[in-house]
Amino acid sequence: MQDKPTTTVLVTGAAGYVGSHTVVALLERGYGVVALDNHCNGSPVAYERVQKLTGASFVKVVADVRDEVALAHILSTYPVDACIHLAALKAVAESGQKPLDYWSNNVGGLLAVLRALQHAGPCRLVFSSSATVYGVPEFSPVPEAAALRPASVYGQTKLAGEQILLALAAQSPLSRLATLRYFNPVGAHPSGLIGEAPHGTPNNLMPYITQVALRQRHELSVFGGDYPTPDGTCIRDYIHIQDLAAGHVAALRHLLDEPGSFTVNLGTGRGTSVRELISTFDRVNGVCVPSVVVGRRSGDVSEYFADPSLAKELLGWCARHTVEDMCRDAWRWQLRNPEGYT
Ligand code: NAD
Ligand code: WQD
Repeated sequence: MQDKPTTTVLVTGAAGYVGSHTVVALLERGYGVVALDNHCNGSPVAYERVQKLTGASFVKVVADVRDEVALAHILSTYPVDACIHLAALKAVAESGQKPLDYWSNNVGGLLAVLRALQHAGPCRLVFSSSATVYGVPEFSPVPEAAALRPASVYGQTKLAGEQILLALAAQSPLSRLATLRYFNPVGAHPSGLIGEAPHGTPNNLMPYITQVALRQRHELSVFGGDYPTPDGTCIRDYIHIQDLAAGHVAALRHLLDEPGSFTVNLGTGRGTSVRELISTFDRVNGVCVPSVVVGRRSGDVSEYFADPSLAKELLGWCARHTVEDMCRDAWRWQLRNPEGYT
């Protein structure tokens, strides 16, 4: 199981949804981890669960990723070989209301990490981007070469991050930079110990479904039933969080072994409609999630899913979990942690 027992990875945003699963994947493969988070949207309890799951210890630093003094201290104290940079704000609607916070956290955070890494030597960095950089894709499956025209401030900050990495790669050919465009991550670790713990009302579909299934919310509003799709509801490429975590390890391994920089989609290549996701959730979990079709949500795209072939070709990575697995694991996490990390 061990890949590179002597490799140490700085993971920013480590206490969050993607971060906690990625740290588990790294520890299970023998990597050393320095976890950084300011806990603005992640819980330190996630770290306890990660430790319980893996039996491995790791360094935890509570700091803002924009804090260059804290970053310099980390890099002078620990033998960090690479960074997986996940720390960011991610709520699309909120990004329009708090644009300065989004630009500061998402772009200011990336710049601070890159400056600190560069000071220590050529950068080895994996960056969380998002399929949201495609905006409204002209067709699916969406390849990496598709036009980039994000429709939200959040998406614009992710595109700006990608552009910063392209500029750095051009100026500093020794840098190795991986941009990962995630589609729709859902599900949880099969143990039910770590998962997605949104604060307040969930913005995303799967956590809303699990909260309705638990009767914490009355019913699910399906945003739009008149899209030009077979059942009238929007189609997305849901990807199991365990596959996404494995994608980070595959990208990291490639960066450590090979020169150059790259951008890949992390998705399954399969589209699932809102109705299909609800009915699969009901079937595999033996529950009934009440739902009602309401008007369309502003900004929603009718249908898109990834072309994940480049990730397969370059990294040897592909998603393995089914939509059934995603629904089962999301429900197990919610049942065992009705209030999230408490
Ligand atoms: P999350 O909110 O669960 O995790 C992000 C973590 O970063 C949180 O623990 C938060 O406390 C921390 N953080 C935020 N700003 C920080 C700062 N300034 N300093 C230190 N820590 C900070 O979100 P997630 O779903 O795990 O997302 C991780 C990354 O993946 C983000 O960059 C996000 O934009 C990207 N992404 C997420 C999705 C998704 O649907 N979950 C899809 C595409 C891309
Ligand atoms: C999925 C589908 C909704 C909630 C967002 C971000 C994207 C990325 C992933 C970070 C859509 C429908 C939802 C509900 C519903 N995040 N829905 N009722 O919008 O595809 O992507 O998360 O990078 O940037 O935009 O995901 O989970 O919000 O919605 O009917 O209560 O579920 O309309 O069709 P989305 P989502």
